[in-house]
Parts: sequence; C-alpha cells; structure tokens
Amino acid sequence: MFPVMKPSFSQRLSAMAAALCVVVARAATPTEVLAKIDPATGKASDTATEFSVTGVVSTRTVLPGGQVVAWVHAVGEAGLPVVAPVADATLLAPRNEVTLVGKLGDGPLGRAALVLKKDSVKVGMTNKSVGAAEVRPPAFFADAAALAGRWVQVTNVTFAPGKFGKDGKASVKGDGGEMKLLVSTGVADLDVPPGPVNVFGIPVKTADGWALAASRFLPSNAKALQALATKHTCFTCHNPDMKMVGPAYRDVAARYRKDPEALAKLVSQIEKGGTGKWGPAPMPALGTKVPLEDRKTLSEWVLHYRWDWLLAE
Ligand code: HEC
Repeated sequence: MFPVMKPSFSQRLSAMAAALCVVVARAATPTEVLAKIDPATGKASDTATEFSVTGVVSTRTVLPGGQVVAWVHAVGEAGLPVVAPVADATLLAPRNEVTLVGKLGDGPLGRAALVLKKDSVKVGMTNKSVGAAEVRPPAFFADAAALAGRWVQVTNVTFAPGKFGKDGKASVKGDGGEMKLLVSTGVADLDVPPGPVNVFGIPVKTADGWALAASRFLPSNAKALQALATKHTCFTCHNPDMKMVGPAYRDVAARYRKDPEALAKLVSQIEKGGTGKWGPAPMPALGTKVPLEDRKTLSEWVLHYRWDWLLAE
C-alpha cells in the first residue's frame, strides 16, 4: 500500500503557475526572425518559437487563392514575409507600423514565412516610411537574390496597354529590358497605368523566376510634378505621405481610389478650396493662381497614390 501523498507546498505552487501560465511570445526584430530562414533553401530552423515582431509593412499582396503575404521590416532592413488569410490580415496595410505574433511555417512562395496568429496585429503609426529604395534595372531580376526581401525601385516601367489579369502577374518593360511583377489579385481587371511609372516593391522568387512584388506605382516624372507642386505652394500644407495642415496625398487617394468622379472633385477643390472634408482647417481657393492644366496634372499625381491601396487589396 502506498501512502496517499499530499502535494508539497512547492508542488502546489508550480501546479498553480502551470495553470495560470500564459505563453509570452518572444520579442524579436524582423531581421532576427529572418535569420532563422535559410537563404538558400528557404527552410526555417525554428518552427516552435512564437515571436512578437515589430516593424513597418512595405508590401502586401493578395495571392490567387486568397492568402495575403505582407513584408514587415525594421526600417532600412530586409522584410520578413508574414502570411495570413485575407480576413486576418486587414491591418497589414503598407506603411502601417505593426506589432504581430506568429511562428515560422510554410510560406506561399515555396519558402518559410511567419504564420500570423489570428487577432494578434496591433497598429502603431500609419504612413511610416520603409526607408530609401535601392534602384535596379530589369536585368537585375535575372537573379535578384542579393536584394531578396529588400525595398527596391525600378524606374520607367511601361505596361502593355489593357487590364491586369487575374493570375496576379504582369510582364513589363523598364529601362533596357523586360521583367515580371507580382501584383495583388486586387488589381485584376483594372486598367494598367497609362504612362511610365516607377515601381516600388520587394524582389521575390516565384516558380517561374524572380519578380518584383509591387507595392507602389508613382509617375516616372515625379521630380517635375514635385517642382510644379512647389511652385504652386502645395507643399506648405501637404506632404504626399504625411498629414500636415492638409491631408497626406496618400490618404486623399485612398478615399477616392474607386471613385470615377475623383479627378473632377480634386480639380474643383484646388480651384475653389474647401473645408470640413478632412478637418476644420480650410484649403484656400487657388483657381486664380493655378491654371486648369496644372490643376489636372497635380490631381492626377495625387490620385496615383491610389495604387498604394489597390495593390494591397
Ligand atoms: C494653406 C494650406 C493649403 C495649401 C497651400 C494647399 N492645400 Fe490642399 N488642402 C488643405 C487643407 C486644410 C485641406 C483639407 C480641406 C478639407 O478638409 O476639406 C486640403 C485638401 C486637399 C485635397 C483633398 C480634396 C478632397 O476633395 O478631399 C487635395 C487633393 C489638395 N488639398 C491638393 C492641393 C494641391 C494640389 C495644392 C497646391 C496647388 C494644395 N492642395 C494647396 C490645405 C492646403
């Protein structure tokens, strides 16, 4: 006969601790988690640890099949791919500063990625910068391994006229060559940009070679447009990416991204001014100073930022 042993005080204490135990995710930078993915094979060396990661989202793509992959960066460093079903990934919008929890697991592009824990995303600041983009020509994408996961820009990109397909891919021409873009299924059936654009995004290896996962299209003559906006004093109250006295152009473009009347509304705002749409601060009427043609050019430029949102939907 064994005597019935009463649990000792220390045994009871540890049982209580176990019952109360909440697994606290380990805080790590995107770069620290990325170091656990083998660059050659794409396999993760640690699929057990739950990481809590803070960084800025640069690019978000919805893949055919409905899975989101978003790249989260420590500013200026390579991005950690994070995967989640569309419904769980709403807050992973480009330029959001986020803290999120997940474990490394299978990614959608044949490589490991952080698999997002449902409801774990917390948003800090929005409209945060990802850092400067490395400029590379299309020829670089024959083997873009050297900049995998980095924030890269390709200038002077033109599309074959028509609409984006449903397969999330686009073949484009840039300075001196052709290359492939990975685009979100959100742009399927939308008209491609008519003029040359600079494409910002993340180089990724797909089943048929390297492509740039596109996050932003801006007109290639951005310098001339900025000069025009400076001449007409727009920058005293506006910044494309940040709210100042007036709204960030990026936020204006988000509001009107699917509005067919958007161009007319913006041209009219610059002519007549207005207040109350973005807050109490008024925008003065500039119609006597800014000719119609410049109002149109500036409005089209502002609306280009709608790609920030359309490419992520
Ligand atoms: C003196 C400050 C100031 C200047 C200069 C200014 N804006 Fe604005 N702008 C504002 C404010 C404030 C708002 C928000 C008005 C509101 O809430 O309705 C605004 C709103 C806008 C909007 C959003 C309109 C809408 O319908 O939602 C656009 C586009 C815009 N400005 C473009 C420009 C351009 C282009 C220029 C230069 C030609 C310019 N602004 C110059 C202060 C300014």
